[in-house]
Amino acid sequence: MKRLDGKVALISGAARGQGRAAALRFAAEGALVVGGDLLHEEALETQRLVAREGGTILTPGPLDVTDEDSVRSWTEEAVDAFGGVDIVCVNADAVRCGATGSQSCEDFASTTRAELDSVRLTVRAVWPHLLRSRGCVLTIGSTAALTGSLTSPRTAHAASKGAVIALTRQLAAEGAPYGVRVNCVSPGTTGTDGSRADPLADDHPMRGIARRIPLGRAGSPDDVVNAAVFLASDEAAYVTGAHLVVDGGWSTVLPGAHPLNVSRKEPGT
Ligand SMILES: NC(=O)c1ccc[n+]([C@@H]2O[C@H](COP(=O)([O-])OP(=O)(O)OC[C@H]3O[C@@H](n4cnc5c(N)ncnc54)[C@H](O)[C@@H]3O)[C@@H](O)[C@H]2O)c1
Repeated sequence: MKRLDGKVALISGAARGQGRAAALRFAAEGALVVGGDLLHEEALETQRLVAREGGTILTPGPLDVTDEDSVRSWTEEAVDAFGGVDIVCVNADAVRCGATGSQSCEDFASTTRAELDSVRLTVRAVWPHLLRSRGCVLTIGSTAALTGSLTSPRTAHAASKGAVIALTRQLAAEGAPYGVRVNCVSPGTTGTDGSRADPLADDHPMRGIARRIPLGRAGSPDDVVNAAVFLASDEAAYVTGAHLVVDGGWSTVLPGAHPLNVSRKEPGT
């Protein structure tokens, strides 16, 4: 028996990065995946990759998680095809960076729409189905919610992701009486299209930070998806309102004198 056998799992932002990795892995774990993304062609490529591995996936038309009607019809397509919803992974995201003093109101609002309003809209559309299935929600936070940054001006992003973590806890309270679990995974620096490939590369703007990650490497989409699969599975049946940080120790271990790469050091040295 696979860990997500027969569960209907909606995954937003499935065209690339962590969303594509989640679609592949959830399907491999037996889930019936419903993907969606603004980038529909790329989302269809995810569908082809999942199908090639023998997984089940449906990708209805383009999804815009900032648009209530779009999210509602995505949910309805899933229910029509598979009869309900067990898991929703609210992963899609579009960030506009900027410092408080210089970021335009439009860029701030665009980021909060894509990172925070989208979570509320998606969960609202899916909620009645989760109540029926005693399902679960996975939100995606970020270590940007946990630390200020000297190098990356990200006012709206930090505020939105902080709010996503708070919203997770509130939703956990609202869902608990009905057996609906709601948890958050917060990645640190993770190598995806969104984070511009390898943050350890010499020309990457985040390299100074990434080289100080205590576990000695940037995260991979699979690192994040491993946590997501656990929280979505019955192994986490008694876990709700949790915030699981997947960042190689970045947000909890002070930077020290070790240059890099602690993971390659021999025990006792
Ligand atoms: N990669 C990292 O270093 C990192 C770090 C912390 C948190 N995160 C979080 O993890 C999640 C996934 O990140 P990623 O790096 O895979 O991102 P990504 O940019 O590679 O992928 C995000 C996907 O969301 C889609 N999207 C954007 N706006 C949309 C909309 N309105 N409707 C539907 N789809 C839309 C994009 O087209 C894209 O396919 C995000 O929530 C992100 O904030 C990522």
